[in-house]
Amino acid sequence: MLDVQSLVKSYDKNTIFHHLSFKVWPGEIIGLVGENGAGKSTLLRILATIDKPDSGNIKLFDFPYETNRKEVRKSIGYVPQDIAIWEELSVRENMIFFEKLSHKSKSETQLRELCLEMNLDKWQEQAKTLSGGMKRKLNLAITLIHDPDILLLDEPTVGIDLKSKIEIGSYLLKQAKEHNKMIIYTSHDMDEINELCDRVMCIGKDLFYENILVKSGKEIISI
Ligand SMILES: Nc1ncnc2c1ncn2[C@@H]1O[C@H](COP(=O)(O)OP(=O)(O)O)[C@@H](O)[C@H]1O
Ligand SMILES: [Mg+2]
Repeated sequence: MLDVQSLVKSYDKNTIFHHLSFKVWPGEIIGLVGENGAGKSTLLRILATIDKPDSGNIKLFDFPYETNRKEVRKSIGYVPQDIAIWEELSVRENMIFFEKLSHKSKSETQLRELCLEMNLDKWQEQAKTLSGGMKRKLNLAITLIHDPDILLLDEPTVGIDLKSKIEIGSYLLKQAKEHNKMIIYTSHDMDEINELCDRVMCIGKDLFYENILVKSGKEIISI
């Protein structure tokens, strides 16, 4: 379980969150919504151990981030908003490269399976020739090499074709419901959020998103 207690974060005088607390259980998909600049990416970066809060505590399976940063990191899969793959390398070479950096070892067959599960079948093709949707899938597949328990995804479906979007969505559902992963992801697509998420958190004091969610009957995490 991910347990976030009383997080405070500001940049200069700009308070991004003030005593933010919530819990996430294995098997849950949490949607993170809010207008641009509300702090969604900041929260994901903090949960991914890349940024630090000013105060507050985070625990993953009872391991405090503060004292177990290295251990905790092994259980986290984080995909930033910008795609981070080697454009000049093939899909296969990208997967093998990142497998070498990972603390878990996987055979080439297993790496290929990870890609195929998302319908990413262009194993020998250079990453730069892939569509935006395929690149997102590759980025996601890379993040899954070390079998993380929690996936933190920053706008994984933004600006991609509908087919890839649906395939990524059903892949995330499978990861949560069949493999018991915790998933926290951001999106501006409220239909997608309604379809995939168990609960939704609105960042920022913006009633616009809350009103949409209330209408849909989705469970909202109050912060
Ligand atoms: N490294 C930083 N230094 C100063 N301000 C930042 C930094 N990162 C983000 N911010 C500010 O924090 C706020 C939240 O940003 P962000 O988390 O990227 O929002 P979102 O992802 O919801 O669009 C914005 O006002 C942004 O300008
Ligand atoms: Mg963002």
